[in-house]
Amino acid sequence: MGADYTRVDRIPFPTLTVENLELWQDVFVVEDEDVITLSYPKSGTNWLLEVISLIHSTGDPSCVQSVVTWDRSPWLEYVGGYEKLRKHTPEKGPRFYNSHLPIQFLPKSFFNSKAKAIYIIRNPRDIITSGYFFWKGMKIVKSTESFEQFVQWFLQGNVSYGSWFDYIHGWLSMRGKDNFLVVAYEDLHQDRRGTVEMISQFLGCKLTPEELNSVLKNISFQVMKDNKMNNYSQVSDTILDHSKVQMIRKGITGDWKNHFTVAQSETFDKIYEKKMAGLPREAFPWE
Ligand code: A3P
Repeated sequence: MGADYTRVDRIPFPTLTVENLELWQDVFVVEDEDVITLSYPKSGTNWLLEVISLIHSTGDPSCVQSVVTWDRSPWLEYVGGYEKLRKHTPEKGPRFYNSHLPIQFLPKSFFNSKAKAIYIIRNPRDIITSGYFFWKGMKIVKSTESFEQFVQWFLQGNVSYGSWFDYIHGWLSMRGKDNFLVVAYEDLHQDRRGTVEMISQFLGCKLTPEELNSVLKNISFQVMKDNKMNNYSQVSDTILDHSKVQMIRKGITGDWKNHFTVAQSETFDKIYEKKMAGLPREAFPWE
């Protein structure tokens, strides 16, 4: 049984979230050199973090093999991550960090900065499937009893970080800004080389063909699954029940088809049609 959520503006957040989120967002200063990964949970965040780390190291894997993900790129809104970012000094180079926060909770200084932000999106049906298997072993959120209940809670926005629909509406309002890039999990599958090149160009890092090949090799599913610096095997038992969760689980697109019933799929589609109005649906690879 997980902990109950911390709620801010009725949005559920995991218990490790910084206190007084609304006050905190006035305090944290986003710097122009920062690189921020944005994602709704289970969209492929850790995959993108690995891509960014390896682009930054021009394909040298020693960093991703020796430093855990959350030290390389701390969680902005988690108490521990925020502390690490506060203590970061300029001689250590630019800051890399990540956030699951809906747009209205990001530090306000972000919106006047030149910090680069990369937002990873994924088919929400696969997010539900991945999320069901992940959150049931996370001790810092409220647990669900069944897949059916998780689908219902997801559609109600009663899961960590709230409604996926609100989240994507919020963040896609930034589309078109020079310092904002949208990447799809599905594109990292279908055109890995092209997507990594697009990200490295956005970050202003030109990679040689050998460096690019090394990035590609080190972000493969199996290499990441075997790397204890990012597969969450190092996360404390007080946070994660390792007997229930595999962070790098299946790594495919369309796994939802193995788990949704026809009724769940129809209910999902009805709500999806209504809530996606106004979004550039042709830009979503899962459509
Ligand atoms: P599944 O549970 O569907 O397998 P996040 O990092 O946002 O929590 O997302 C986790 C999802 O990304 C998991 O999806 C995980 O397997 C997938 N993932 C992580 N690394 C991957 C990789 N190298 N290739 C493909 N999928 C990956």
